[in-house]
Amino acid sequence: MFQQVLNYAGEYRKTTYLSIAVMLSGIIMNVLPFLFLYQLLRPLLTGEAVGPEYILARVLAIAVCGVLYAFLYVKGLSLSHNAAYHTLQNLRISLQGKLEGQPLGVIQEKGTGSLKKMFIDDVDSIELLLAHALPEGLANLAVPLFVFIAMFFVDWKLALLSLCSLPLGFVAMGAMYQAGISKMDAYYGAARKMNNTIVEYINGMEVVKVFNRDGDSYRRFEEDVRSYRDFTLDWYKVCWPWMALYNSILPCTALFTLPVGAWLVLKGFSTLPDLALVLCMSFGVGAPLLRSLSFMSTMPQLKYKIDALEHLMDAPALQQTDASFSGADYSISFEDVRFAYQEKEVLHGISFQAAPGSLTALVGESGSGKSTLAKLLVHYYDVTGGSIRIGGQRLTDMSVESLNKQISYVSQEQFLFNMSLLENIRLGKPEASDEEVMAAAVKAQCGEFLSRLPEGIHTMAGDGGKQLSGGERQRISLARAILKDAPIVVLDEATAFMDPENEEKMNEAIGEVIQGKTVVVIAHRLYSITGADQICVLDQGRLADMGTHEELLNRCEAYQKLWHAAEHSARWAVKPDALIQEGEVL
Ligand SMILES: Nc1ncnc2c1ncn2[C@@H]1O[C@H](COP(=O)(O)OP(=O)(O)O)[C@@H](O)[C@H]1O
Ligand SMILES: [Mg+2]
Repeated sequence: MFQQVLNYAGEYRKTTYLSIAVMLSGIIMNVLPFLFLYQLLRPLLTGEAVGPEYILARVLAIAVCGVLYAFLYVKGLSLSHNAAYHTLQNLRISLQGKLEGQPLGVIQEKGTGSLKKMFIDDVDSIELLLAHALPEGLANLAVPLFVFIAMFFVDWKLALLSLCSLPLGFVAMGAMYQAGISKMDAYYGAARKMNNTIVEYINGMEVVKVFNRDGDSYRRFEEDVRSYRDFTLDWYKVCWPWMALYNSILPCTALFTLPVGAWLVLKGFSTLPDLALVLCMSFGVGAPLLRSLSFMSTMPQLKYKIDALEHLMDAPALQQTDASFSGADYSISFEDVRFAYQEKEVLHGISFQAAPGSLTALVGESGSGKSTLAKLLVHYYDVTGGSIRIGGQRLTDMSVESLNKQISYVSQEQFLFNMSLLENIRLGKPEASDEEVMAAAVKAQCGEFLSRLPEGIHTMAGDGGKQLSGGERQRISLARAILKDAPIVVLDEATAFMDPENEEKMNEAIGEVIQGKTVVVIAHRLYSITGADQICVLDQGRLADMGTHEELLNRCEAYQKLWHAAEHSARWAVKPDALIQEGEVL
C-alpha cells in the first residue's frame, strides 16, 4: 500500500524517507531521558559517590533531550507533510490526466458529488498515511523495538517480563476489533442511509415545500439521524471496554516487571540496578508504542480508498488518436452502431447516412435513445459495436479536440461555467471579439433577457449557470454554437424550455445558422422538423424507419403514433397562433 502511494511521490520519496529518519532520531531523544534518569538513580541504589556536577549534567541532558525531541519531531512532521502534500498534488494531477482521457459521458455520469469526494476527500485521506502513519507509525514502532532488544542485553529475564504485557494488550485490541466488526455493517449502513436522506432532503427541498410534505420528509430525516446516533453509540459501547483495557495495559510494560522483577532481585536472580534500568527503559517505550498502534486501525479503510482511486485510474480511456480531422466532407454515417451504458444495451444496431449539408431529424418516444445517439456522434462515449464516420473518417481515428472543431453540439442539459455570460458564449470561439459575441447572443434571442440583467452580458452565470432559467441557459448555449459556426451542428431539444414566442424567433435564427451545414436535430415538437431531408424514427433503441415526413406519415406506424400524439398535445396549447408559427419554421 505504501509502495502504491509512494509511486506518486516522485522526487519527494526521498523527503518521505528523510522525515522517517528525523522522526526516528526525535523519538530516540524522547527515550534517552529515561536512561539519564537511571543514571541518576544508580548512585542511590549502589551507594556509589557522585558529585553535584554529575547530577547537574544528567538533568541538563534530560532538558536538552526534551528540546531536541520537540524540535526533531516537529521537523520530521513538517518534512513528512511537505512530502505528503506534494505527493497528493502529483496524485491529483495524474488523476486529472486519467480523467481527461476518459469518455466525457462517463465523467458526467459519475456526477460532481462523487468526483469531488474522490479528488478532495479520498485523496486528502491519504495525507494521514503519508504524513503520519508512515513516518510516525514506523518511527514510533522502531524505537520500542530497539529498546526491547537493548533490554535483553541488560537482563533477559527482566526483558521478557516487560514483554509480557504486550500479548495481553494485543488480545484486548483483537477483542475490540472483533466486537467492532460485528457492529460495523450496521454502523456503515446507518451512515450511508443518513447521508442519502440528507442529500435527498436538501435537493428535494423545493418539491417538499411545494407539496407540503415537510412533516413526512422531516420525520424520515430525523429517524435516520437518530438511527445513525444509535448505531454509532452501539458500536462504541461494545468497543470501549476493550479500548480502555488495551490503552491501559499495552503501554504499561512495568505491569509484570515491577512485582516479579522485585521478587527476582530478592531471590538474587537479578540485581537492583538492572531492574531499575529495565523499568526506566520500559517507561520510555509505552507512549511511542501506543501511538504507532493507533495508526493500525485506519489502515484497512485507507487501503480501500487507495484501491478505489487506482481502479478509477485504470478505467478504459476514450479511443482516439492524435490525428486531426481529414474527412472528405461533412457527411455522417452510422454503421450498425450498438451502445450500452454499463451492462444494459440501449442502441441495438443503428445504421444511417446523412449527406453533407442535409438536415436529419431524430424522433422517437422519450427513452428511445435519441440523446444517446447524439452523444455518440460527439464522441462522449465509445460505441460498443459498429462505427461512426464523418467524411469517411472514423471518430476513433481522430482526436476529440479536432472532432470538436467540426461540431457544434447543444445538449439537452445545459451547463454554464461560473464566469460572465460573455465569456461563456465566447467559449464557442475563443478569438471572437466582444462585438461578435454580442451579435451571436442577439441572434440566439438573448438580447431581451440580457438587457434585464443588472450587468447585462457581463453578469456572472453562477455555478453551473443556476442564475438563469432553463430557457435562458439554452439560449446562451445556442449563442455559443452560433458563434462557433462549425460545419456540423447537433441540437438536442435545443428549444425545449422556451416559450412559443422565443422559440419561433429562435427557430428562425437556427434556420439561418444551419444553412449549408450537416445538421442532426432532435426535436421535441414534430412540427418543426416536417421539412427535414430525412427523419429517423427511433423505437426502443432500434431504427424503426427513415424517410421524409410524408413518406413516414404514409407507412410508419411508430411515426404516425408520434404525430398524432403531437397533434393531440398541440390542441392543449394555450395560444392557438403559436401553432402556426411552429409549423412554419425549420
Ligand atoms: N447515463 C445513463 N446511464 C444509464 N442509462 C442511461 C443513461 N442515459 C440514458 N440512459 C438510458 O438509455 C436509454 C436512452 O436514453 P436517451 O438516449 O436519453 O433517450 P431519449 O433522448 O430518446 O429520451 C433510456 O432507457 C435511458 O434510461
Ligand atoms: Mg433525450
